[in-house]
Amino acid sequence: MQTHILASDAAGLEQAAALLKAGELIGLPTETVYGLAGHAFDERAVPKIFAAKERPSFDPLIVHLAAQTGLKLADLSAHELINPDNIPSHLRPALESLMKAFWPGPLTLVLPRHARVPELVTSGLPTVALRVPAHPIAQALLQKTFPLAAPSANRFGRISPTEAQAVYAELAGRIPLILDGGPCEIGLESTVVGIDDEQLCLLRPGRLGIQELSAAAGQQIYPAKVHPAEVLAPGMLKSHYAPRVPLFLFQSDSELQELLQTHSGRPGIMLLQDLSSEFKAALDSRQAELEHLSPDGQLETAARALFGAMRRLDQNSDFILAEWPQAETGLGFAIRDRLTKASAR
Ligand code: TXA
Ligand code: MG
Repeated sequence: MQTHILASDAAGLEQAAALLKAGELIGLPTETVYGLAGHAFDERAVPKIFAAKERPSFDPLIVHLAAQTGLKLADLSAHELINPDNIPSHLRPALESLMKAFWPGPLTLVLPRHARVPELVTSGLPTVALRVPAHPIAQALLQKTFPLAAPSANRFGRISPTEAQAVYAELAGRIPLILDGGPCEIGLESTVVGIDDEQLCLLRPGRLGIQELSAAAGQQIYPAKVHPAEVLAPGMLKSHYAPRVPLFLFQSDSELQELLQTHSGRPGIMLLQDLSSEFKAALDSRQAELEHLSPDGQLETAARALFGAMRRLDQNSDFILAEWPQAETGLGFAIRDRLTKASAR
C-alpha cells in the first residue's frame, strides 16, 4: 500500500473523510501526538488499527469525539458511548466539571461503556476511554465523520509520533493517508483519568497534572494504585515509548560524566539545561549528538521536543543519556513517567 502525506486543507480533509467512511485508517494530527484513526463503530476498521500497530488486542483504544458545547454525561449516554448508571453518583458532578474545563483538550476519561461500543475497542473491558481533541484538523474531521478510535500512530511499544514524518517512519506501507498538521503543540499523550474503587484516579500523567485536575473537579484525584494482577491502563506497562538503543537517566554533570565514561560508542544527550562550554568541548571528542529540549527553560517546550529528539537520537547515536527533570509535579511528573518507561528494558 502507498502511504501519502497530504496537507490538511479542504481536499485533504475530504479524502481523509472518504477513506474513513470506507473503513480505512488515516494518520491524524492532534494537539498531543499523532493518532492512527479509524471509525470506532466499524468492524472493518478497528481490527486494522491493531494490525497496523502490531498492538496486542488486550490494549484498549481511545475513542475521539466531536466537540459539542455543554456536553454532559447524559449526552455521552445518548450517543451510545457510556452507561452512566454505572458511575457512582458522587463522581458525576466532578466528571462533568472536568469535561467542561478540559474538553476539547488533552484529557481522556475512562468511563463505564455502553453495550454498543465494540468490544475490540475496549479490549473487552467494562469501560471505554473518551477524549475530545482540541486540534482544529482533528475537530474538522470529527465534525464531518463519526467517533474515531485512535491510539498513538506508532508501532506498539515505540515512540509516539509528534509530526507527520514520524508517522510515516512508523507506518508507511500500512495506511493510505497521513494528514499533515505540523508539529504537535503538547508533544505528550493525553492525561488519562478513570474511576477506581469509587474514586477518580490518574491512569496516565500528561500536560494536565493532578493539582490542576483536582481543582477543576472540586475533589481530589488520586494517583492510580498499581494492581499487580491486572493491567489497569496498559500504557502503564513498564517498557513503553522505547527507543531501540538503551537510554539512561542523569541528574547532574557528575552523573552524566560517569555515564559517558562507562559506555562506549556515540552518545546522544537530551538536555533540559544547557551545559557549560568546557563540558561541551569535552563531548566533541566523543562526537556526541546534543538535543537541547528547553532553550527557554520551560517544561512545556521540553515536552513538545521530547519524542522528536528521542527519535533522532535513536537513529544517530549508540546510547541515549537523558536529563531527569527536577520538578516532580505537573509536567515534570509526566516527563519523568515517559523517561522512566523509555529507560526500562
Ligand atoms: O493523546 C492521546 O491520548 C493520543 C492521541 C492520538 O489522542 N492517543 C493515545 O492512545 O495515546 P494510546 O492508545 O497510545 O494510549 C491510550 C491509553 C493506553 O494506555 C490505554 O491502555 C489506555 O489509554 N486506555 C484505553 N482504554 C482504556 C480503558 N478502558 N481502561 C483503562 N485504560 C484505557
Ligand atoms: Mg500509545
